[in-house]
Amino acid sequence: EDITARRKDAHLDLCATGDVEPGQNSTLLDLVHLVHCAMPEMSVEDVDLSTLFLGKRLRHPLLVTGMTGGTERAGVVNRDLALVAERHGLAFGVGSQRAMSEDATRAASFQVRQVAPTVALLGNIGLYQAVRLGVDGVRRLMDGIGADGIALHLNAGQELTQPEGDRDFRGGYAVVESLVNALGERLLVKETGCGIGPEVARRLVELGVRNIDVSGLGGTSWVRVEQLRATGVQAQVGAEFSAWGIPTAAAVATVRGAVGPDVRLVGSGGIRTGLEVAKVLALGADVAGMALPLFRAHQAGGVAAAEQALEVILTGLRQALVLTGSRSCAELRRRPRVVTGVLKDWMAAL
Ligand code: FNR
Repeated sequence: EDITARRKDAHLDLCATGDVEPGQNSTLLDLVHLVHCAMPEMSVEDVDLSTLFLGKRLRHPLLVTGMTGGTERAGVVNRDLALVAERHGLAFGVGSQRAMSEDATRAASFQVRQVAPTVALLGNIGLYQAVRLGVDGVRRLMDGIGADGIALHLNAGQELTQPEGDRDFRGGYAVVESLVNALGERLLVKETGCGIGPEVARRLVELGVRNIDVSGLGGTSWVRVEQLRATGVQAQVGAEFSAWGIPTAAAVATVRGAVGPDVRLVGSGGIRTGLEVAKVLALGADVAGMALPLFRAHQAGGVAAAEQALEVILTGLRQALVLTGSRSCAELRRRPRVVTGVLKDWMAAL
């Protein structure tokens, strides 16, 4: 049995039922208040949520962020959630294609184009796997599934909690530079739940990166997932660092302040409701990203349950736009909002 594939299935089991969202963590989106407009002077039908992403027009500003692939079970998750994304005009990302790069027979579990021919599709590979694969290898992963772009994931916190994980994080920007030179706007750089802050974002953008997914603290914690698999010292330190990271609200607001309007920003990490989607869009994200809630809905009841969960989110999002008197995401961003508590401290310090 292949080690990468076995680890992937262990990850899926933990994410399906384990305590992978440490309760003490927060996106800090509860400290953002959108302001009610008592006279919206518009119809729900006037709300236009469409936005450009990866050269395609999304009907809704949502990305199902990369989760899985490499096993039969993972293939079902990918195809079912890609189908939901296709039907509702969301973007979709497959999980790490490392398994596919090591063993071509695993490629099938990443193939979603049959069910999602027009979806804005992202491949996925880890930064240090990209070193091993080189630019051509990364391009092959992306083109091999007919993707519009590829997500390069950063996960230093997870690696340090993983017994077999990386310990040397040098040379990352050089890799990003060679990838962005080759792939341009098709490259997206993402975290995996610890957040990208304004300093890193600014350097990435200086190198030419045009798509960033902050994937902040407040939702799925990959340090926690690895902690649950670890023993001894790593389990103890993993427990301590399960709360490590830049809360999603702080990451989105400060990264938007640090980079120009031409950078497409995804706000993800702990987004669970339509109102939270509206809040990250108001703080400067172009698209909101979600992983765990759609995965869990799918585990519970397949495509129908995932669509039902999505409908609740989209209805809440539309309602937030109407109740702030916003016809579009651009209008929502211009509306007043109240930022309180420690989120103000984060925004002042970053
Ligand atoms: C993930 N995530 C992830 N990210 C990535 O870049 N490559 C990957 O292979 C995976 N795998 C994966 C599996 C599962 C089951 C989950 C739930 C998540 C991370 C994901 O894309 C996202 O950044 C974080 O999960 C934060 O978002 P949520 O889950 O809090 O909405």
